[in-house]
Amino acid sequence: MEKYAITVAGGGSTFTPGIVLMLLDHQDRFPIRSIKFYDNDPERQEIVAKACEIYLKENAPEIEFSYTTDPEAAFTGIDFVLAHIRVGKYAMREKDEKIPLKYGVVGQETCGPGGLAYGMRSIGGVIEILDYMEKYSPNAWMLNYSNPAAIVAEATRRLRPDSKILNICDMPIDLEEKMASMCGIKSRKEMVVSYYGLNHFGWWSKIYDKDGRDLLPQIRAYVKENGFAQAASETNQHIDQSWRETFTKARDVYALDPETIPNTYLKYYLYPDYVVEHSNPEYTRANEVMDGREKQVFGACRQIIEKGTAKDGGFEADVHASYIVDLACAIAKNTQERFLLIVPNEGAVENFDRTAMVEIPCIVGSNGYERICQGAIPQFQKGLMEQQVSVEKLCVEAWIEGSYQKMWQALTLSKTVPSAGVAKKILDEMIEANKGYWPELN
Ligand code: NAD
Ligand code: G6P
Ligand code: MN
Repeated sequence: MEKYAITVAGGGSTFTPGIVLMLLDHQDRFPIRSIKFYDNDPERQEIVAKACEIYLKENAPEIEFSYTTDPEAAFTGIDFVLAHIRVGKYAMREKDEKIPLKYGVVGQETCGPGGLAYGMRSIGGVIEILDYMEKYSPNAWMLNYSNPAAIVAEATRRLRPDSKILNICDMPIDLEEKMASMCGIKSRKEMVVSYYGLNHFGWWSKIYDKDGRDLLPQIRAYVKENGFAQAASETNQHIDQSWRETFTKARDVYALDPETIPNTYLKYYLYPDYVVEHSNPEYTRANEVMDGREKQVFGACRQIIEKGTAKDGGFEADVHASYIVDLACAIAKNTQERFLLIVPNEGAVENFDRTAMVEIPCIVGSNGYERICQGAIPQFQKGLMEQQVSVEKLCVEAWIEGSYQKMWQALTLSKTVPSAGVAKKILDEMIEANKGYWPELN
């Protein structure tokens, strides 16, 4: 069987060890020849890389391993880039979340003003990696889950329309696992779904099992009572109390349209007042992750390095990230499997902007993806999506043109922001906080 060469961009990510272990679990169907890590923070990356190097030597010595901050070394001779960078790292996520909260506005990683600030940092980073890949390995594919995926995807559509990038999000994966367990089904892979929306902003409209049996009535009944709370899934990422609250709140999000099943992220747009009331402006999700996942992962790495062995444990495979292997296999082996991807609409959602980056089911094979039409969507969802897609497009235009005006419009139009006045205050503070990360706005 052919073996593949992979570069993990954002080698210093908290998700890197979990993804490496997950890749090793799937060697039978996706054999790997080499793994390279690439990051622009050598110190951070080195900790993760040295520990993974030890793990790989002990568990998969046949895989060539290296890590670097040199783009040419990182992106030469590869088949896939798995991209999960966080431009500005957790220090900037914390600011994204805390600045809006000062003004009584939702403070969140990818939604509202925080997501816009993150978008203005990420666009350049993701485009840079895409360009390196295309320069040094023109046949390679980039599987991108760097956030904010909606804005990053719109930026690549505008700036690199022909590049080989697939933008994907893991939230629907986790929610579908939960829905499968609500129905007593072993795996989400036994479900066939229809879904439409933007990234972190979408709805399931049909869910069938393999025999074509309609699962929606059962899922609706569950979500009406519980949201997604208590439904099992394999992920160990979404288990903190704040995530549990989000899964519970999905009940109230669902109530707005009992025909469909909503993505959990809609709570930030539909219940922003509730979210702000339940946020601690001094201690946000960024703090939780810095005190939790980041400490845990880097602690485990340091221990492995100190002991010189990974045999005592410390790392855990990110089981639900196996969708990344599924996606790589779809391209490598032309499996024609179905995935929710973030792609240019082009009429797949009939009554919606053709140029919008929508999240919909697609069939993926070695020549890329084909969209599955979702038809016309209801007025409620269309209205919300028109507003949100405009926010995302204005942000990307602001980045391209260096336009203060468009960025102010983007914040003002966000459903999470009450007025142009508040938008301006948040924007001005974000500009200060993001010096060196954002393009200059005039
Ligand atoms: P992290 O801060 O631990 O890791 C990100 C790494 O990217 C850091 O080591 C940083 O130095 C590096 N980096 C930043 N800018 C870079 C650049 N320009 N070039 C190369 N490397 C750069 O963050 P994390 O919590 O592990 O998350 C990583 C990313 O994955 C984030 O964007 C997060 O939002 C995303 N994510 C997405 C999904 C999804 O469903 N799409 C799920 C989980 C995480
Ligand atoms: C989900 C989303 C990601 C997001 C992550 C945040 O997985 O799909 O896009 O980055 O949650 O999780 P965290 O644990 O970092 O708050
Ligand atoms: Mn996501």
